[in-house]
Amino acid sequence: MTGRSRRILVLAALFLLFVTGCDQRGPDGEQVDPTEKIVIKFSHVVAEDTPKGQAARRFARLVQQRTGGRVEVQVFPNSTLYKDGEEMDALRQGAVQMIAPTTSKLSCLAPQWQLLDLPYLFESKEQVHQAMDGEIGQKLFATLEHYNIHPLAFWDNGFKHMTSSERPLVHPRDFAGLTFRVMINSRVLEEQFRCLGARATALPFSDVYSALAARQVDGQENTMSNIYSQGFYEVQRYLTVSNHGFMGYVVLTNATFWRSLPPDIRKVIEETMAEVTLWEREQAAGLNDKNFKQIESSGKVKIHIQTPQERVEWLAAFTPLYRQFTPVIGNELVEAVLRMKKNS
Ligand code: LMR
Repeated sequence: MTGRSRRILVLAALFLLFVTGCDQRGPDGEQVDPTEKIVIKFSHVVAEDTPKGQAARRFARLVQQRTGGRVEVQVFPNSTLYKDGEEMDALRQGAVQMIAPTTSKLSCLAPQWQLLDLPYLFESKEQVHQAMDGEIGQKLFATLEHYNIHPLAFWDNGFKHMTSSERPLVHPRDFAGLTFRVMINSRVLEEQFRCLGARATALPFSDVYSALAARQVDGQENTMSNIYSQGFYEVQRYLTVSNHGFMGYVVLTNATFWRSLPPDIRKVIEETMAEVTLWEREQAAGLNDKNFKQIESSGKVKIHIQTPQERVEWLAAFTPLYRQFTPVIGNELVEAVLRMKKNS
């Protein structure tokens, strides 16, 4: 070795020592170079003990384990970081890397997402999965790529039910003159209540409890896990088990961020997401059933289970909604669901 090569080797060794900071890294990969660490901020609006809350935590834990700590998913539940109306902008601007809003809230980007808001469109979660895991879901997902948003999965919550502080909601006429909170961004949900002779007020999820408690609105629609975990049942007097619409989530990431990830990391995230999605869908139904029993045994609300005859009455009241919104959502999508239901 020449003197010059030796000098280069010594310099290279010194440089390496300098950049690694004499760090004795353990073989378990737990300690990672902080400059290599990838942080994913996952912001959502619901409580931790809900289908979305539990799945986000599980996803975070598994990704961290499977990447040896290289990827850290930080979960911010309960609108602690961004609330409805803020989280989408935060994702698009790169302030957070993952969110999982309801399909209804995606209508601000593409009106096609209101498909899932059409009342009684789906009769079972299996039908919802068949649609969302197939061509219909693919078409809906494709609307997001246009906004530099990359969809990763469709998660369940479950079917929505009606609550009110004023009177039992048995027939369409019982809604007359009442005001209901609806999720932001969906015109279908607003019109749904107008079809019943009621008014609709769109509010972020984090404001719903106080609006109900202060009687700014008379009622709302939601799943059992949300009604229970947010304590809505404590400030409402009536609950109708109506199963009139499905609440599902799309796990989204910023497409620029997604493309910037190394391929091996993307693979781990995709595989983990697929696994957690199956787990989440299994958990969701059980958690909603459990929360319904907890609401029932609290004795705080009077529960009415909708009969098939009442369902027919409600559905008749919603007929104008289908006529009004099929062209907005797209004939093709609505017909694809109706065809799918006929053939299943
Ligand atoms: C709501 O606003 O009622 C829901 O979207 C909350 C949620 O994310 O489950």
